[in-house]
Formats: sequence, structure tokens, C-alpha cells
Amino acid sequence: MRAWDTVLYERWKQNRKVFVGALDEVTQEVFDRASPPEGGRCIDIGCGFGETTQRLAELVGPGGFVLGTDSSPRFIEDARREAADAGVENVEFEVADAQTANWDATYDYAFSRMGTQFFAAPVPAMRAIRGALKPGGTLAKVCWRRKDESQFWAETEQVVERFLSRPAEYEADTCGPGPFSLGNPETCRGILEAAGFEEIDLHRRDFAYYMGKDMDEATDALLAIGPGAELIRLNGEHGESHRPEIAEALADHYAAWQQPDGSIVGRGSVWIVTATNPS
Ligand SMILES: C[S@@+](CC[C@H](N)C(=O)[O-])C[C@H]1O[C@@H](n2cnc3c(N)ncnc32)[C@H](O)[C@@H]1O
Repeated sequence: MRAWDTVLYERWKQNRKVFVGALDEVTQEVFDRASPPEGGRCIDIGCGFGETTQRLAELVGPGGFVLGTDSSPRFIEDARREAADAGVENVEFEVADAQTANWDATYDYAFSRMGTQFFAAPVPAMRAIRGALKPGGTLAKVCWRRKDESQFWAETEQVVERFLSRPAEYEADTCGPGPFSLGNPETCRGILEAAGFEEIDLHRRDFAYYMGKDMDEATDALLAIGPGAELIRLNGEHGESHRPEIAEALADHYAAWQQPDGSIVGRGSVWIVTATNPS
């Protein structure tokens, strides 16, 4: 988890426009499939810079309230400042590790965009999230399906593997079980069942994944976060020494994916997950 307050915070911040923009469409679909109630109380888990927290605040309206939570103090510091600068009044932010949190059951709606797949202890974490919901409250979240189902993640890793392999031992901090830990639908559903959720629904959503406005932006983002980037990081200095040639190989690989406007667009696939806290 330390990685999220250090290297991954910095990399997410640097490439934020790409990562967040790429997820806009699926985020909206989560809200369309399970809308936060007007005037309701929401909790946003692993909220990062709080874009979705602010969006939830807008959707519930001035009579509602949203708590943005994240285990990383640096993300929360930025999220709090940005919401204040934007004049959003019905939000608060809190540093909290979902795995050890003990929220009171005062929320109507729990949301997470790509924040629940990094838990080393997923069942206690999802139980704590359920514990934050009133009886009958809704969970709505989005997470990656298996790596191979998002072509751009799998192919980026394959390109990096031409140069580097996963070291048997490494010192770098990691992001826990990783972005694809909920890719297997049985795992994703089983965790929620074990945590006591009901009416669990996994909706597969394939979408056009915007990788960057041009090849440089796309290769920077692909080598900042995700399985290819992780291979470089785990290889330390040796990995870094290969970064320029890996970027070149990626640019060759993705040339066919370049759009007439210069942007690079791949295919991604996520689960949109909804569930209920039993009444
Ligand atoms: C991929 S980022 C997504 C951020 C944000 N939801 C978004 O979509 O822009 C994952 C976030 O989960 C947070 N996170 C990781 N482990 C966590 C934990 N155990 N409890 C709470 N947040 C966690 C990270 O700090 C990070 O901000």
C-alpha cells in the first residue's frame, strides 16, 4: 500500500488526464446502471484525487453528502484542496484503509472506481464497505476484467517482456494483488458473497480505451502504471536502462492503433458491479 502514497501517486498524478479521461465513459455507465439517490449519503472508496467524489456530490445534489476515502494521505490532500477550490460544499475527505476501516452504517450508496482490486485482505475490506451501508444500501463499482481481456494491457506487457522478465526477488513496493485481482468473475462475486452482499450483478463492459492524444503521451502512460510499467519498476535500474528501447518498441506496436487525429485508442474491458446490503 506504501506504493500508492509514493511512486504510484506520483505516476498517477503525472498521467492523470489520460487515466481519468479513459474511464469517463464507464464511470458514467456505473451511474446510469445504479444512480446515487438524490439527497443521499455516499462513500467513495479509494477515491484518489476525488474526481468521482465531486461527481457524486453533483448527482446527490446540495441536500446530499459524499465522503471520499483513500488510504493514501497524498491523494486525500490533493482531493480535499481541489474540492475546496471548486467550491464543492457537500463533500468531506478522510484517509482510511478500507481493510481496517470501521465506518458506521450511515450511507445509502458506496462507490469505487478501480479502488477495490488492490486489497490484500479483500473480504474484510468489502465487509467494512458493506458495514458503511444502511440496510438496503447499494454498492456500485468498476474494476478491470482479466488482463487478457483488455488488449492494451496484455500487449503492452508482452512488448516489455521482449526486454525484461519478472525478477524472482525485488525490493520495490507493489500495489498489492494488482489491478486484475477481480478479473475472474467467481473471485469478484465470491468476495462480495463472503462479505455478506446480496443481489450481486457483474456486467461486462467492453469499451474503447483512450491511451493518449499522441504516441508519446500513450507510451508514457503505458509505462507509468500497469503490468508493463510494473515489470520495469521491479527490475530497478536494469529495468530503467531499457525504458527508451521499450518505448520505441511500443510505439511500433501501437502504430496501427493510431487514429486520424493522432490519438491512440485500444480496447479495454471492465466489470461494472452492483450489489446490495441486505435489508
Ligand atoms: C487506480 S487508483 C483509482 C483512484 C480513483 N478511484 C480514480 O478512479 O481516479 C486506486 C486508488 O485506491 C487507493 N487504495 C489502494 N489500496 C487501498 C486501501 N486498502 N484502502 C483505501 N484505498 C486504497 C489508492 O491509494 C488509489 O488512490
